Amino acid sequence: MRPLPVHTIRIAVFFLFTTMVLSAALAQSPADRGPAMPVNPFVASADWWKHAVIYELYPRSFGDSNNDGTGDLNGITQHLDHLQTLGIDAIWITPMFPSPQVDFGYDVSDYRNVDPQYGTLADFDRLVSEANKRGIKILLDFVVNHTSDQHQWFKNSTQSKNNRYRNFYIWRDGRGPGQPPNNWKSAFGGSSWKLDPASGQYYYHYFYPEQPDLNWRNPAVEKEMFDTMRWWFKRGVYGFRLDAVDALYEDEKLADNPTLPGVDPYGEPNQQHLNDHSLPEVHNALQRMRKVVDEYKGRVLIGETWTNTPAELTAYYGARNNELQMPMYFNFTTINRLDVAAFRERIEAVEQNPVGGWPVFVLSNHDIRRQVDRYTPAGADKDAVAKLLAAMYLTLRGTPIMYYGEELGMQNNDPARREDVKDVIGQKGWPTEKGRDGERTPMQWNASLNAGFNQGAKPWLPVGADSITRNVAAEMADSSSVLNWYRQIIRLRREHLALTEGDYQTVSTPSPNVLAYKRTANGKTILILLNFSEVPQSISLPPITADHTSTKLASSASQLNETQAQLEGFGVLVLELK
Ligand code: GLC
Repeated sequence: MRPLPVHTIRIAVFFLFTTMVLSAALAQSPADRGPAMPVNPFVASADWWKHAVIYELYPRSFGDSNNDGTGDLNGITQHLDHLQTLGIDAIWITPMFPSPQVDFGYDVSDYRNVDPQYGTLADFDRLVSEANKRGIKILLDFVVNHTSDQHQWFKNSTQSKNNRYRNFYIWRDGRGPGQPPNNWKSAFGGSSWKLDPASGQYYYHYFYPEQPDLNWRNPAVEKEMFDTMRWWFKRGVYGFRLDAVDALYEDEKLADNPTLPGVDPYGEPNQQHLNDHSLPEVHNALQRMRKVVDEYKGRVLIGETWTNTPAELTAYYGARNNELQMPMYFNFTTINRLDVAAFRERIEAVEQNPVGGWPVFVLSNHDIRRQVDRYTPAGADKDAVAKLLAAMYLTLRGTPIMYYGEELGMQNNDPARREDVKDVIGQKGWPTEKGRDGERTPMQWNASLNAGFNQGAKPWLPVGADSITRNVAAEMADSSSVLNWYRQIIRLRREHLALTEGDYQTVSTPSPNVLAYKRTANGKTILILLNFSEVPQSISLPPITADHTSTKLASSASQLNETQAQLEGFGVLVLELK
């Protein structure tokens, strides 16, 4: 081929350069993406997780790369740029291991592989490597309490009473003919015991019968599970969310649970889970597990820790901070109304935990209705509430765990008819218990068919009706969207140490509707004012700010005058005090 003259090359290079600069500028223009997300300076630190925003993602519903109606790992990889743009530091993927999917992955039949409907181990490795390039770590969901009844261990255990795997599970004789060993009720309805006619014994399942409980009193079980953790750590996984960890142990003597008044959603008497839940033995197991985690740098344990009191939560950190680094604090999720006093009390309770455990905040997840539906007063603006809640839990001292779609203000999309329900607890408990489908619907990417979740195959759950306007593409282009608000607050976390490392101090204001607090580090203080009501609130800054002047870092539905903060309904002000 004939070489091109030099001036032609120069012009071509100039055009190429100009096009690149222009497209970069367009991609970064405020109307489009806003300022770029700064890199998290703590990405390589051992305590990265204290500076992180974690994002829970339901793999069935995030991105469906092969257009079969169900999301998959490559679908996650395809959307990593969104997570980077949002400022996410780690993703927790709910179980993607091989599974019969009775409980959508929480019934694992092989802990060291990927379910074919989600992809392959090679896809997983690629996801880890692509995520790492974007400063994002991968956390897995470790279903430690039970396996699937299709796991080879369980299949072996049914072979005979003498099988080596029999003691991997909890097999017991009944109390008498046709009577299970005790009165324990499954969290998913009915007795926790299932009879195996072949051996005449019952096996124990805290959840569905297809989810037999592992016997953690057997050291061989512990060894298998710990080796599995090491296996994933070596593959680049940064930690685990421990599923149902509080159900790990049961009373050895199988003492009955006390019966409580009323009935559960399945029509059976309520009971206090005294002997099948939160047993002290779990803490010894967690201490041993933590030692496995500490063999690797920067690895973490997050717990699904449902606790009623601050003391119970404190116990999960361990007396010497030697159990879970991040037991989830679910205590906001039971408030279900915008009540300043209730939130303040719960924040202070976790702040004052005597072991100095790091707080971990959760507002909703794949088991809990989406937060805008739970907290927004009837008829009020859900987007305003989405921004208010984001401003709160992204600026408290601790690690927030977001749930996918929350950054869009995604709402529950509940099934209207029993025959549409996919979640078995919804099928069993309808209409009192409608199941968890509503909070698990496909991520809304754009205004195209199926909201860009896939190329048109029927998604496993219906796409939200609001997806035409409530989607990533539309919200990126709208500077006042919920998405751009999340990006703005997360950016502040990366830019201001006070918001991650700073201490927390409650601020009292004359208004019972305003939640206010300060975060301070290295002599810098940030004041956060949150109007939990629909009614405008006016707050005089002095004496709150004493002799400081203040600079506005972020605001939603509010104004700052010299000495006065004017917060409209659900308004937010984030101020730096100078
Ligand atoms: C946890 C999971 C839930 C699952 C249950 C049984 O609570 O979050 O989705 O159904 O454990 O594994």
